[in-house]
Amino acid sequence: MENKDDKLKDVISHAKEYGYIFPSSEIYDGLAATYDYGQLGSELKNNIKQYWWKAMVQMHENIVGIDSAIFMHPTVWKASGHVDAFNDPLIDNKDSKKRYRADVLIEEHIEKIRQKIEKEVTKGKKRFGDDFDEAQFRETNPNVLRNVSKIKEIEDRMRKGLDDGDLESIYQLIVDLEISCPISGSKNWTEVRQFNLMFSTELGSVAGDAATIYLRPETAQGIFVNFLNVQKSGRMKVPFGIAQIGKAFRNEIVARQFIFRMREFEQMEMQFFVRPGEELKWYEYWKEVRVKWHQALGLGESNYRFHDHIKLAHYANAACDIEFDFPMGFKELEGIHSRTDFDLKQHEQHAGKKLQYFDPEMNQNYVPYVIETSLGLDRMFLAVFSSSLQQEKLEDGSERSVLKLPAALAPYKVAVMPLTKKDGLPEKAREIIDGLKLDFQCQYDEKDSIGKRYRRQDAIGTPFSVTVDHQTLEDNTVTIRDRDTMEQDRIPIAELPGRLGDRVEMKALLKQL
Ligand code: GAP
Repeated sequence: MENKDDKLKDVISHAKEYGYIFPSSEIYDGLAATYDYGQLGSELKNNIKQYWWKAMVQMHENIVGIDSAIFMHPTVWKASGHVDAFNDPLIDNKDSKKRYRADVLIEEHIEKIRQKIEKEVTKGKKRFGDDFDEAQFRETNPNVLRNVSKIKEIEDRMRKGLDDGDLESIYQLIVDLEISCPISGSKNWTEVRQFNLMFSTELGSVAGDAATIYLRPETAQGIFVNFLNVQKSGRMKVPFGIAQIGKAFRNEIVARQFIFRMREFEQMEMQFFVRPGEELKWYEYWKEVRVKWHQALGLGESNYRFHDHIKLAHYANAACDIEFDFPMGFKELEGIHSRTDFDLKQHEQHAGKKLQYFDPEMNQNYVPYVIETSLGLDRMFLAVFSSSLQQEKLEDGSERSVLKLPAALAPYKVAVMPLTKKDGLPEKAREIIDGLKLDFQCQYDEKDSIGKRYRRQDAIGTPFSVTVDHQTLEDNTVTIRDRDTMEQDRIPIAELPGRLGDRVEMKALLKQL
């Protein structure tokens, strides 16, 4: 099996070779951790957005969408806590001069202990075969128990240190765990310091008039400040949600692992406003709904897991991540947070305006509580792309690179190919495209042998290829080839829309929700 580093390298080079993702400003040697989506990448990204938007807004009568400005009044970020508390605890290795997030170093150490536990369980499975009782093994095996309690002790110390803002104790934890720098291998660390993640700039061209403003580090605040506008103009009744897709910016220290952690990225966020006291019920509800959304894509159930937050953000009373098995291992894909009434109350105080809802059933005014689902679009792209990219050995001994994208997300739904460039076949192929292109994104391809063309479509993830040959001219039938099974069928041209639609329309995904 391919190792994880090689897999990520393959993903990066495949994405570049086929027009999915390019390094930004590449002709100037690029800009660290910044990427451009190419001609196919932007299609895939748009399709992911559409799937999310339709699942949220179209499928829920009590959720509406907005598109708020990136620039916001500077007090928004004071109120939200981002000016004072949107910090990462950082530590530098004095030998490699590399900077790390202290909590990430500790989390990675914990992950290694978790892997030891899983190894022990795998060993047990092998030893006991069919008689193996995994639950009992986990509860009684001394090595597993020792490692579980080790993890708990580390998590407790980290939680306390971060909650108390006691950076000295976080430094001491790194020293006690003998964590070394992945680059230099040394344990020669600086103290831990806090670093604010917001990018700032100046508004206004006249000196003195200028005010410091921030590039938004999350889209959520654009929703909070519009809570009443939307509620009143849309006559929304609690519980209801506001969804938004848009850019966010963070001056990440450790921006790496391709599009996983970037300084400019996109979020798909939804704030769901509920009655106070009902938030934990809705928190559980949204955890379930969101996992279902992911699993409908068919990327594999075992690729997902929940991770409860050890340190809750300043605004949350419950929070978890949906993690995905990326090429670098399990990492956060989406956050689900019970944000209480923190944000709306803060904005009430700082703006001096009431942000309350009159609940006609309760005959009472209150500041709603909020459940947030927050998915990184770029991370979602990486999850879909990396798990879809597969190398397959074929029966004849040859290999193919195939991008088994969920059909509804694929940039092109069908490639139409004339067998040869003459005898009227190209014209017939274009006629077929004309009949399909109102509903489906099609590609015309006439260069190289049919075999090579199939490989090219496999590599870019086109779910269907249609070949036009001389028989087509006689009886209006074509060969349709399935990307995943490579099976071919001869069908009438008139049946193409039905055959494609069942698989490639967004409906196929939405029906599963
Ligand atoms: N409004 C809540 C919020 O922003 P978060 O956990 O900080 O919560 C939500 O971010 C999601 O945004 C993450 O789960 C991740 O998918 C994405 N995200 C965060 N920082 C990112 C970055 N630097 N690059 C790419 N995606 C990022």
